[in-house]
Amino acid sequence: PRPFAYRNRLLHCDGADLTALAAEHGTPLYVYSAQQISHRLQLFKDAFATRPHTICYAVKANSSLAILRLLAKQGAGFDIVSGGELERVRKAHKPALKKAVFSGVGKQTWEIDAALEADILLFNVESEAELHLLAARAEARNKVARFALRVNPDVFAETHPYISTGLSEHKFGIDIKAARAIYRSAKRSKWLDPAGVSVHIGSQIRKVDPFAAALARVTSLIADLRKDGHNIRYVDAGGGLGIDYGATAFDPAKQVAKYAAAVTKGLGTESAHLLLEPGRFIIAQAGALLTRVLYVKKNGTKTFIITDAGMNDLIRPALYHAHHEIIPIKQPAGKQPLPETDENKVDVVGPVCESGDFFARDRVLPPVKPNDLLLLLDAGAYGMSQTSNYNSRPRPAEILIDGATTKLMRRRETMRDLLAPELL
Ligand code: LLP
Repeated sequence: PRPFAYRNRLLHCDGADLTALAAEHGTPLYVYSAQQISHRLQLFKDAFATRPHTICYAVKANSSLAILRLLAKQGAGFDIVSGGELERVRKAHKPALKKAVFSGVGKQTWEIDAALEADILLFNVESEAELHLLAARAEARNKVARFALRVNPDVFAETHPYISTGLSEHKFGIDIKAARAIYRSAKRSKWLDPAGVSVHIGSQIRKVDPFAAALARVTSLIADLRKDGHNIRYVDAGGGLGIDYGATAFDPAKQVAKYAAAVTKGLGTESAHLLLEPGRFIIAQAGALLTRVLYVKKNGTKTFIITDAGMNDLIRPALYHAHHEIIPIKQPAGKQPLPETDENKVDVVGPVCESGDFFARDRVLPPVKPNDLLLLLDAGAYGMSQTSNYNSRPRPAEILIDGATTKLMRRRETMRDLLAPELL
């Protein structure tokens, strides 16, 4: 079931009336359905139930502490990419650090040290130089570092060029052809435990065949590594499963089943413990951004709806030309959607001083007036986690809805927060 739906003509998130939430907490306001998050995690668990696996939720998709805690309590591990994300997992649910994998092309010494100290599950190493640093830091702390090389399988997956990662032209991973030799040289260090192989080919991938292709290459590498005497126990399939940002019917259970079938096909008879790093699939559609209309204005033939949320609150449309459905909080009367005429088309834009600050262009929307509330759907992933203070705008508050109870999980930033780090 979709978490956001009209009840008595007013939009609700599960049991919560969004009009009331906006009145109480102000806008812009991120709202999330805890039930939907749990449901998505469960779909993943069910799809992979037949093999040993750990779901390492990609913290970058939404790193709010309440969400990390919710997922950790349901058994999730985490994919972290910085010392900051490591601290978030520690604060949300410390035992989950034992189920954390550390990805990223630019790990720093202090971050590696913190992860070794926390005894995380696995380092996903992205270069030979990083592997040398890892060995040195492990030796300094008298610890053995479990690692996987993140290989670059040179597989193309159709998505936005900014979030595609699996080709050799991308900065990510180590050429899969060079990997075997690096594992061999790692064997000489007693501080390194070559425990797995990992791969991640990109994000918002809708057609699942590239996952099978990438994992088939990884599987054949693992077979070679075993011949070389390495004790490979983990295969990390990365994240990247896409969702449907349109209003059309999207069946997440079907989508994850297709994905699981592709992963299974790629793995063949390989039975190593499977690590999965979904982010978007878990959280995107559980969250939405609530915003109030400030002004409606016409410039020439165009109508602009100016909202109190801007690109600093949700940058995906500006950065990737991403589509987010926008729906009014009061269910519009009459037949919807309206016909695709010029008069019915509007631009929904934010207050930030850039022409790139838009949420929708030439979008058909029911008539909107100042003070109306609008909801931007599917904003749970890479929404709050990509916010900024650009134009000196405080970040929005976040609300977690669990059935009929609502919890403030992050208060709105204040002027004091905004200025706190600065010195005069
Ligand atoms: N694992 C690794 C190593 C990653 O780099 C990522 C995402 C994930 C897992 C999770 O991917 P997901 O399941 O969420 O697709 N800001 C962009 C998306 C950037 C994705 C970066 N890496 C957006 O708003 O679309």
